[in-house]
Amino acid sequence: MSRLRTSLVFTLCLLALSVLAEEPALSVNTFRRDALLRRFDADKDGTLNDRERTALRATFGGVDVPLLPQRSDDYTSVRLPKHVDAAEFAQFDNSTEQNVLTNEGAALGRLLFYDTQLSRNYTVSCATCHEQRLGFSDPKPLSVGFEGGRTGRNSMGLANLRYTNLKGAQPGFFWDERAATLEAQVLMPIQDRVEMGMELKELEAKLQKLPYYPPFFAAAFGSPEVTSDRLAKAVAQFLRSMVALNAKFDHAADAADGNYSAAFEKFTDQENLGKSLFIDGIGGVAEMGCAHCHIPPTFGMPKAFNNGLDLKSKDPGLGSLGRPTNDPFTPSNDGKFKAPSLRNIALTAPFMHDGRFKTLEEVVEHYSRGVHPHENLGLAFGEQKGERATIGFQLTGEQKAALVAFLKTLTDESLISDPKFSDPFVRLKRRR
Ligand code: HEC
Ligand code: HEC
Repeated sequence: MSRLRTSLVFTLCLLALSVLAEEPALSVNTFRRDALLRRFDADKDGTLNDRERTALRATFGGVDVPLLPQRSDDYTSVRLPKHVDAAEFAQFDNSTEQNVLTNEGAALGRLLFYDTQLSRNYTVSCATCHEQRLGFSDPKPLSVGFEGGRTGRNSMGLANLRYTNLKGAQPGFFWDERAATLEAQVLMPIQDRVEMGMELKELEAKLQKLPYYPPFFAAAFGSPEVTSDRLAKAVAQFLRSMVALNAKFDHAADAADGNYSAAFEKFTDQENLGKSLFIDGIGGVAEMGCAHCHIPPTFGMPKAFNNGLDLKSKDPGLGSLGRPTNDPFTPSNDGKFKAPSLRNIALTAPFMHDGRFKTLEEVVEHYSRGVHPHENLGLAFGEQKGERATIGFQLTGEQKAALVAFLKTLTDESLISDPKFSDPFVRLKRRR
């Protein structure tokens, strides 16, 4: 009888143990620092060495796994500088009721942005061509896709993508504005034959099987289903949270009570001269200023323009979309391009849609004397079409240096160093 009792107790114990040992369902919290470091940081030094990383990966099926901060990151609050009028600025916001920015959504967007699983052969993520330390751009004139192919244009710096509806316009995304919304934009590189090479249905199935996505989709959207619609929304939220309005320019403008035309006390004389040329215009004519097209405070563009890079455009830009001209003073859209927000421009070389200029000095030289009188040239360059081989603002050496100095005041160090915009994955080694 005692034998029977022992074996019964034994069996019960085993049962209890097996229940206890059963893997709890994964949640977002599984991937937070404390939980992962408690399980895998054998030497307890607060970081994972390569052996510990290998053990972590093995537990989750041999894939890169995210390691998230203990408390969720805040993506929703935007701290506007004083010189930006909040009510007016809210009108530039392209967020919609169908996709409201949440911390859970943007945190999921961050995983997706850095995940090489989004490309066919696991080599490329969005961040491959949009590096945080470079204002989310790529130092190569043309980017390299998943199979080594080159993109047709230069990768764009990503900043202030949330605030693009300037002056009531709703410009699209990409150099040629072909994506009407950020949500639509996100799905394009994924399916691009050169960039990531995935089919959406196939990607949904692939992500659904990864251990970390179902809990993150559940946290963001209420259920664990991975759909491309949700994926696009999450990445768009992450992109919208990348606000760059915390630069030397902003601190100086705040100190000047938001009067852009006043000499900023916190600027050098050279930066002030550059600011005056950029914002008040060459010779004080606002229509002939850079800000006519690159409008503060984002220094973004409400619509595509031609800025005279060539007399005849090799790349038609907006012209390839077959729409009527976006400006009654120009016959067509041929050779017109949108420029991204000039925030962080000192980090995003090379410049222009084809990456033709290596430095800001070369850019300014172009505007000074290298502008070709293209038939769709922006009016800001004056009524000089066809008169000379090249035209431009005819700047002095001092003015050119001042413009470059001013452009360098637009760098937001917080966006490019904030960990909440960095790579969250525990990786064995970087693939590229
Ligand atoms: C292989 C390189 C590459 C990859 C991968 C890539 N991009 Fe890009 N990105 C580019 C290039 C090049 C452009 C400009 C393309 C054009 O205008 O034709 C661009 C443009 C953009 C723009 C437009 C910005 C603006 O101001 O209009 C956004 C947003 C963007 N990418 C986000 C993403 C996201 C999100 C991903 C991942 C899902 C991604 N990119 C993956 C190279 C890449
Ligand atoms: C008529 C409108 C217009 C004016 C005026 C103008 N720009 Fe531009 N700018 C553009 C367009 C359009 C592009 C993108 C052109 C392309 O890539 O084909 C651009 C691109 C740039 C870029 C590169 C952006 C990037 O991400 O590669 C810089 C820097 C720049 N402009 C600075 C200036 C400065 C400085 C001035 C004044 C001297 C100025 N712009 C005046 C329209 C304008």
